[in-house]
Amino acid sequence: MTSIPHGGVLINRQNFNKDITGLSRAITIDRVALSDLELIANGTYSPLTGFMNEDDYHSVVEKMRLSNGLAWTIPVTLPVPASEAVTVSIGDSVKLIYNGEIYGTLEITGKFRPDKEKEAQKVYLTTDPQHPGVKRLYNRGDVYLSGPVELIRRSQRPKEFADDYLDPAETRKLFDQKGWKTIVGFQTRNPIHRAHEHIQKTALETVDGLFINPLVGETKKDDVPADIRMRSYHVLVDHYYVKERTALAVFPAAMRYAGPREAVFHAICRKNFGCTHFIVGRDHAGVKDYYGPYDAQKIFSNFTREELDIETMFFENSYYCKKCGSMASNKTCPHDPSFHVALSGTKVRGMLREGIRPPETFSRPEVVQVLIEGYKEKQKAHLAD
Ligand code: ADX
Repeated sequence: MTSIPHGGVLINRQNFNKDITGLSRAITIDRVALSDLELIANGTYSPLTGFMNEDDYHSVVEKMRLSNGLAWTIPVTLPVPASEAVTVSIGDSVKLIYNGEIYGTLEITGKFRPDKEKEAQKVYLTTDPQHPGVKRLYNRGDVYLSGPVELIRRSQRPKEFADDYLDPAETRKLFDQKGWKTIVGFQTRNPIHRAHEHIQKTALETVDGLFINPLVGETKKDDVPADIRMRSYHVLVDHYYVKERTALAVFPAAMRYAGPREAVFHAICRKNFGCTHFIVGRDHAGVKDYYGPYDAQKIFSNFTREELDIETMFFENSYYCKKCGSMASNKTCPHDPSFHVALSGTKVRGMLREGIRPPETFSRPEVVQVLIEGYKEKQKAHLAD
């Protein structure tokens, strides 16, 4: 038995045969809105059926709950430039267009102007325009359109990992077929290094299955590209994971870098995929030092167990200890920090760009190989541009 979707019902707003010949108006959306449209439509964002109205938006920003009281921490809105907002009215049904293609429809039930500074402060805990989530918030349109959506066509899936897409209805079926009753979800936007593997496998010791669910939507430019990461996840799973106990599929959402609030949002989405448990480690969904290392764990104390209905599994900062000869954390390792291999994602990305091999104590050699080759290919492609 997989988990009950958030709000009780798995939403389905996919309508691939919808007749849109009568719709004359259209709104242009960006890549983030396109991914939100798809995730609303396939139920990943259940119980949302569309872009948030003003009441839900204010309630989420201020209380981390929808206006009906259900826990929800990240605004899911459709920002458009004011010049475009004036071309449509409440009551209109409009086409949603990305890059010249129609992907869905929106029944406009509301139009409002957000206080972006307030949204930034409440959701990202900073108004600093250097913060990648805040920067995106400020750069997007100044008017939010709200209302129910339908997806009429899926976006093109990258050919390198087109087979790794599963809708929540499909992951739920997969988990049932595998006979798993308890499933732990794992979010990542990085190649899986030894600390990730350690916390995943430690969690897996107490549940039936592990669902590795890497985020592949929009990320910062300097994050490792999704196609290289997907190759690295496959090679890692093939060599180091028990097939019957592991599932891998993408999470096609945009990264918000909202730290604590995004951790709760990530947990809710994974519940919708069917997970009963969710891993939150050190500085989940964090960026630079905007958040404390355990803020993304502490935020869960604002919600009751019943409200979220997914079991969180918190992990301390893990590292390889040369003296222990194993992965460890300050909970299990008594040795001096000089024995610990502490490499940051930033440092590793720097090494990869220069073709330097990160040590085995940080990353599995098969993974390092994929990453080095991937970076070489990208550099070549870049030079050929
Ligand atoms: S995230 O932005 O997707 O959260 P990342 O891919 O680095 O970034 O992390 C994935 C998950 O692993 C998060 O739950 C994060 O807290 C956890 N994590 C990453 N590195 C460590 C570490 N060294 N020790 C413990 N947990 C970690």
